[in-house]
Amino acid sequence: MVFITWDDSYSVYVESIDEQHKKLMRMINDLHDSLNKDEESDAIIAVLGRLRDYSREHFKYEEDIFRKYGYQHEQEHKKRHDDLVQNVNEFENKLLADRGEVGEELLNFLLYWLENHIKNVDKQYITFMLENGVK
Ligand code: FEO
Repeated sequence: MVFITWDDSYSVYVESIDEQHKKLMRMINDLHDSLNKDEESDAIIAVLGRLRDYSREHFKYEEDIFRKYGYQHEQEHKKRHDDLVQNVNEFENKLLADRGEVGEELLNFLLYWLENHIKNVDKQYITFMLENGVK
């Protein structure tokens, strides 16, 4: 079962970034599958670790563009990214302690975070990205 599905309401009209957001969704779906299949904690932690690492890579991609072209909301946006990485680290520790209780909370958090971040925070940079020719 697919947990989160891409549709055009997520688009920021920058192809490279849309592709990265789609990959993040696939990784959240992988995590959902791992939890549903009742995999070993180590396997679930590994899936979550890959999601965190790719999130960092994606955030750096956006932040490098912000710096290169002087995005006026760079600091607030970066703070949101840093908070997500911090939250995922905390979930990783909680998962190690009690996977049963944490799995659903983690998925709901990631779903809310991704949707809210893309639609309310990332979308604020659309004009900035397009004016600077980012594709
Ligand atoms: Fe696409 Fe600001 O993360």
